[in-house]
Amino acid sequence: MLYIGIDLGTSAVKLLLMDGEGKIRNIVSREYPIYFPNPGWSEQKPEDWYEQTMTGIQELLADADKSQVAGISFGGQMHGLVILDGEDNVIRPALLWNDGRTYEECDYLNNVIGKEKLSEYTANISFTGFTAPKILWVKNKEPENFARIAKIMLPKDYIAYKLTGVHCTDVSDASGMLIFDVKNRRWSKEMCEICGITEDQLATCYESYESVGCVLPEIADQLGIPRTVKVAAGAGDNAAAAVGTGTVGDGMCNISLGTSGTIFISSRNFGVDKYNALHSFAHADGSYHLMGCMLSAASCNKWWMDDIIGTKDYAAEQKAIDKLGENHVYFLPYLMGERSPHNNPNARGTFIGMTMDTTRADMTQAVLEGVAFALRDSFEVARSLGIQIERTKICGGGAKSPLWKKMIANILNLKVDVIESEEGPSLGGAMLAAVACGEYASVEEAAAKIVKVVDTVEPDPELVAKYDERYAQFKEIYPACKPLFEIIK
Ligand code: XUL
Repeated sequence: MLYIGIDLGTSAVKLLLMDGEGKIRNIVSREYPIYFPNPGWSEQKPEDWYEQTMTGIQELLADADKSQVAGISFGGQMHGLVILDGEDNVIRPALLWNDGRTYEECDYLNNVIGKEKLSEYTANISFTGFTAPKILWVKNKEPENFARIAKIMLPKDYIAYKLTGVHCTDVSDASGMLIFDVKNRRWSKEMCEICGITEDQLATCYESYESVGCVLPEIADQLGIPRTVKVAAGAGDNAAAAVGTGTVGDGMCNISLGTSGTIFISSRNFGVDKYNALHSFAHADGSYHLMGCMLSAASCNKWWMDDIIGTKDYAAEQKAIDKLGENHVYFLPYLMGERSPHNNPNARGTFIGMTMDTTRADMTQAVLEGVAFALRDSFEVARSLGIQIERTKICGGGAKSPLWKKMIANILNLKVDVIESEEGPSLGGAMLAAVACGEYASVEEAAAKIVKVVDTVEPDPELVAKYDERYAQFKEIYPACKPLFEIIK
């Protein structure tokens, strides 16, 4: 049998075809635009996601035996607000996970409703990118659109709806809405009230590996696949990536270096970070996880390479970097503000420490190191909670760079396990589809059978010590710049 994993990302939709043994048969990717209508705002059109997904599926299956397709599932960019009217038309472009416009609504939620209450109802506090403050933003700033809302959906759920006609979501993605009672895996009545919505405006919530139904007959016919193809609810991209890297069960870690950068720690038991700096979310394997999310990770390098120094040859630029642990140039990677752990939409990208002998390679190195240092900020929060992690998996576009993996290993002092396929969310999506179709008894079983570690990057104690000193300096820069970020707008 064949399974399709759809990773509805921020820059593109990535589609993967996997067989029943977990072998990847094909991968395709299709881009769509992202709009920044104001500084710190970020939007996409759900119609673009759907169009590119459908074209992508056709491309993916061009040379496959379509009669063998049994299941489809997803990893999707989290937190985005998709609103549909009574006829299921998209009311306005989606507000994305890295959109920072909701600072007033966040302030209301965190300080008027109060962090304790939010944490009690949802296990989390408000961050600008989360969905609840976006609902409030639409209510406050676009009341005519708010009045038309019949359904509130997350990005990948819009695609699931178009494929099946079912308004569904899953526990991992719902966790990032701030309307979901993560501990009990159900919608929070209190949060619905606070947001001025009713539960029937929300989708039905499934476990990630549950089937929500079959593809609609007209969709099956259009794609040339059987009408019996099941669609599983899928997961937020980080939980799906964790499935795709075998980060399931207790105390496992995955780092994702995509447009965002995340550190994801799986846990069999529900737990909340007492500082609320890390998110406490449901996992796609039926359990829970803690996660730190930085808003710009591989996207910092992309910005620096493509837009600033103007090259596409990332490897050549990284080849010139040979003095690890000795760079006195630092970069704060806050190009879209920052989520974990600072929760500051006004934070900005910053270079500091240049001298006349600073080279282009030093600056590139600072960008890569800045992302790793910022990931360590979240990791330090986990360490301070007594969580002991010695090794991590890694995935996402940035994970293709051996140099970046070495920096991560030494800056976080972690063994980095490299897996056969760094595809992450799309592979995780296909695995969830396979579980929904009964090919594997559980997500853990699928991960144990499919995911293979092929190499490990070991931290080098001497380099770890050098980077510890550098990190101590890095840590001082954000607090010193913070008052300036309030002025530079
Ligand atoms: C996680 C988050 C990002 C997006 C990126 O909380 O906001 O990782 O899911 O797609």
